[in-house]
Amino acid sequence: MTSFDPRRVRIDTPLLTREIHGRPITYLDSASSTLPPRAVIEAMDRYYTGHHANVHRGVYQTANEATEIYEGARAEVGRFIGAPDPENEVVFTKNTTEAFNLLARSWGAANLRAGDVVLVTEMEHHANIVPWFQLREERGIEVRFVPLGDDFRLDLKDLDRLFEGVKLFSFTAISNVLGTRNPVAALVRAAHDHGALAAVDAAQAVGHQRTDVRAWDADFVCFSAHKMLGPTGLGVFWTRAAILASMPPFLGGGGMIADVRTDGFVPASGPTRFEAGTPPIAEAAGLRAAVRYLTGLGLDAVAEYEHALTVTALDLLAESVDGRVRVIGPREATERTGVFSLDVEGVHPHDVAQVLDEYGVCVRPGHHCAKPLMRRYGLAATARASLGPYTLRGDLDVLVEALQATVKLFG
Ligand code: ALA
Repeated sequence: MTSFDPRRVRIDTPLLTREIHGRPITYLDSASSTLPPRAVIEAMDRYYTGHHANVHRGVYQTANEATEIYEGARAEVGRFIGAPDPENEVVFTKNTTEAFNLLARSWGAANLRAGDVVLVTEMEHHANIVPWFQLREERGIEVRFVPLGDDFRLDLKDLDRLFEGVKLFSFTAISNVLGTRNPVAALVRAAHDHGALAAVDAAQAVGHQRTDVRAWDADFVCFSAHKMLGPTGLGVFWTRAAILASMPPFLGGGGMIADVRTDGFVPASGPTRFEAGTPPIAEAAGLRAAVRYLTGLGLDAVAEYEHALTVTALDLLAESVDGRVRVIGPREATERTGVFSLDVEGVHPHDVAQVLDEYGVCVRPGHHCAKPLMRRYGLAATARASLGPYTLRGDLDVLVEALQATVKLFG
C-alpha cells in the first residue's frame, strides 16, 4: 500500500513555493541535489531544539537522546537498503565522494598492491575515479575503464579481458549524465565470477528506486543523503560487517578509538572506527526522516511514476523544439532514468541554463564531474535537467517552453 502522490510531495516541499524572476520555480536539478520535505527540515529543527548534545560521550539525558537519534538513524538507513546487519554496516561520511575516498584509502590501501587492477567505467563521476588515480600514484595499481558504446551503455563485449587482474570493480548504478541504468546485480555477479569485489555508486539511485544491497549482492555501496530528500553534509558507506571489521581506519582523531597511549592507539570496532570527530548528528536525524518519508511514499511507486514522466519527457524533447534539442543518453526509457543531458544545437549549455533561469527553470550546465564521459562523446558540457518525486508534467511543459524561447533567441 502506498500513499504516493507527487502533488502531495510538492505540497510537502517548502522550497517549491518559491518564485524565481517572478515565475514559480521549476526545479529540474534533482540529480545535483533533491529538495527536502518539511518532515526532514523539522526533524533537524527538533533535534537542535530539543536534543542536541555530542554523541557517544555524555551520560546525561540529552546526550543519550542524541546518541539514540544518531545510532537509530544508522540502523534505519541500514534497514532501508536491506543491510543484513543494519546497526553495524553503515558508516556515515560527509558525502558520496568521501565514501569512495574511504573505500580507496582504507580497503584499497590495505588490499591493493602494485599491478592490481581497479576496474571502473567511462561513465563514472570523478568521485569514483580520482581516489583510484591517487592510489595509483602512491602504489602503482592499474585503473582500467570499461568503455562506453555509441548507445550510451557500457560496452561489456570483452568481459574476460576487462577483468584480468581485477581486484575491485567499482561502478555506478545510474549515470549522473546519461541517466543510463546499469544492470547492477549482473555486473556484481561478473565481478564475483572473476574473483573481484564489487562497489556500487548508488548516489543517483537511492532516492528514485528501491535499493537492496542483498539483491545486488554488492560488497560496497556509497550514496549521499541530499540525493534522497535528506540534508547535505552526510554520505553513507555500506559494506558487510566482516569486511568492515577488516578495514583499517581512514581518518584519525576523537571518537574512532578504543584506546590511545603515548606509544600508539587501538581503533574502535564497528562503524565508529571510521567516524573521527563529532559526526553530522542533525544531518543523521534529517536522513532518518528522509528514509521514513521515502518509505511512506513507496520507492516502487516513485520509480514507476518517474519512469512514466521520463517517457513523456523524452517524447516532448524529441518533438517540441524543432529537432534542435538532442538528449545525450539512451532513447529507450526502459534503459534509463529521468536525467536528461541536453545539447541544444548552436547554443552553449551555460547560455541555455541562463535563459532557462529567466523562466524559473533550474538545470545544471557543465561537465557534471564526469569528464571522461564527456570526452568520450566529444562534449565540453551539457545542460542537464533531472526529475524528482515532486516533478509534475507541468514542469516539463515549462522546460519545453523555455527551450523553445532559447532556440528562438539564439536563432
Ligand atoms: N554529483 C552531483 C551531480 O551529478 C553533484 O550533479
